[in-house]
Amino acid sequence: MKKRSSSCAAAVAMAAVFVLVVALYGTWDSRLSDRPDLKSDYRLLGRPLYKLDISWPKYTEHFTGQVFGVAVNHLAGVVYIAQRGDNVPKVLVFSTDGDFLQAWNTSTLEMPHGIFLANASTSPTVWITDVGNGPYGHTIKQYSPSGKLLQVLGTAGKAGSSLNPLQFDQPAEIFVHSSGDIYIVDGDGGLNNRLIKLSKDLQVQWMHGEKGSGLAQFYIPHSVAVDSFQRVWVADRGNKRIQVFNSMTGDWLGSWGSCFTEDAPYSVRQTPDQKYFVVVQLNTNQISLLEAPPVGVIGQCRVASVIQLAEDIKPHLVDLDLKTGALYVAEIGAQQAQKFTPFTLGGGFL
Ligand SMILES: *[C@@H]1O[C@H](CO)[C@@H](O)[C@H](O)[C@H]1NC(C)=O
Ligand SMILES: *[C@@H]1O[C@H](CO)[C@@H](O)[C@H](O)[C@H]1NC(C)=O
Repeated sequence: MKKRSSSCAAAVAMAAVFVLVVALYGTWDSRLSDRPDLKSDYRLLGRPLYKLDISWPKYTEHFTGQVFGVAVNHLAGVVYIAQRGDNVPKVLVFSTDGDFLQAWNTSTLEMPHGIFLANASTSPTVWITDVGNGPYGHTIKQYSPSGKLLQVLGTAGKAGSSLNPLQFDQPAEIFVHSSGDIYIVDGDGGLNNRLIKLSKDLQVQWMHGEKGSGLAQFYIPHSVAVDSFQRVWVADRGNKRIQVFNSMTGDWLGSWGSCFTEDAPYSVRQTPDQKYFVVVQLNTNQISLLEAPPVGVIGQCRVASVIQLAEDIKPHLVDLDLKTGALYVAEIGAQQAQKFTPFTLGGGFL
């Protein structure tokens, strides 16, 4: 009996190695994909946590502009992709299986930046920050899943810093918590360097609004996410760091800089198992997975894994499928979005 179970274990181990080799081979050889239009070269550094799904999306010809943002409805299995360009639909909708579903027919978007899917379980809506300078710009807009404009935050067409009425200048990203609370980073290089928390009924709860490199000051706050432990994570791009705040009080909790000496963090999202933060670095073409620290500790950042994309891909913002853990990345340079799925070998992840 003993002998049999150990040879069985050996067979399982060999099978696991085989699967790993096949998986890695597939990864390294993604260049051989029969879809030359998709720029899909990459390498994995550190622990292999994610692999490219080269079958997503099924048809890439729908990408007609520069892809800036991506948002996932994990319950409906739908991915929203925000792109820029003249005479191109500003939002493309795909299924998580890679089917093209629709392009929004709205003229109310100028230059989409951040995009966020809110309230997936009851009545999903899509929030988009618009950094355009035209009559619809400097706003954050809420849309129905098919692209009907529902609500506009900010003074359309006018950059400003007022809180009453709300005004923005190149608002970078919005995160809507399941409680209805709204977190906004404003902005992407304009007048303001603010992190604002609004209640569901749009009352300002707290704000950090000073430009600078000190604690709780910002320079180009670019992306924001809230975890399940009442912590707000902000990619403070111009300062090459991530700052962390208490979501209830706004108190500063800590800062991560050591991972970003080469290139600033552009995006921040957490994996649904809450083990990692996913951070994109545009200039070094990297998607990094950073270890999520335990509650009560921010400490220093630790890189678990890096997806090194090819030069000039320029990954910008990411989102995660909260059901499957799949990671979607918006790539400005490659003018496409890509999907990475978690390795499930050894049951280590998810
Ligand atoms: C798109 O919107 C324009 C202007 O509202 C309208 O005239 C046109 O019929 C719409 N196209 C589709 C395919 O819905
Ligand atoms: C989600 O949608 C439902 C139904 O429209 C609404 O009652 C609820 O307030 C929404 N929740 C949030 C967080 O927006």
